[in-house]
Amino acid sequence: MSKSSLAVAGPPPGRGPVTASGNERHGHAQVATADDFRALFRRHPAGVAVIAAKALDGSYVGFTSTSVISVSVEPLLIAFSVMGASSSWPAIRDAKLVTVSFLAEGQIGIATRFSTQGIDRFAAGGWRTLASGLPTIEGAAASLSARIVQRIAAGGSHLVIAAVETIDLAGQGSAPLIYFDKEYRAAAFPLATPLQPAPEFGEQLKGGDQQ
Ligand SMILES: Cc1cc2nc3c(=O)[nH]c(=O)nc-3n(C[C@H](O)[C@H](O)[C@H](O)COP(=O)(O)O)c2cc1C
Repeated sequence: MSKSSLAVAGPPPGRGPVTASGNERHGHAQVATADDFRALFRRHPAGVAVIAAKALDGSYVGFTSTSVISVSVEPLLIAFSVMGASSSWPAIRDAKLVTVSFLAEGQIGIATRFSTQGIDRFAAGGWRTLASGLPTIEGAAASLSARIVQRIAAGGSHLVIAAVETIDLAGQGSAPLIYFDKEYRAAAFPLATPLQPAPEFGEQLKGGDQQ
């Protein structure tokens, strides 16, 4: 199958074409505004994770995040962004280790709790402690722990790069929790409608067979 044979169906029944709010001029790039930037990323589905770390005083911090990305396989690197104004930033700034728990679709309560301000996000349980002393969310679809290798100030946020040390795939049978258009969603139709197998990054870069 050639690359150009990707068949993209029209919008599913009951859904109109996607338009960015405040920017109805289809096919013409406009000077970027904060509103269009937000509208664009509202329409960019993302997996939901909880990032946790230990502060210097031994207390735990954790926050819901949709910014986790895989950066590199050799070495194993991830990155995420954390707002400078976040209550978690001072601990992430000083920490050596973080855990990332990729939430399952049944964990909206955890996602909500770990993005609620002014509460003890660990008080209601649902997490356990790893040998490293860091908390990880129980029942997550997958989780990892990583050693922070770089922090880059970026606007009002910080991009944190971390080397992955352990991976737990025990929950991988669970469907992931997705954040899209300001709502938590299950990864079901229309988001997960299979279209065509995509090559893995590594294969693409090596110029491998893309079929
Ligand atoms: C779906 C979702 C994704 C989020 N992603 C991030 C993120 O990637 N980085 C970040 O700093 N905050 C993110 N937040 C915000 C934090 O979870 C938290 O709400 C915010 O830090 C405010 O609380 P705090 O100041 O008490 O930490 C996200 C919130 C939600 C609901």
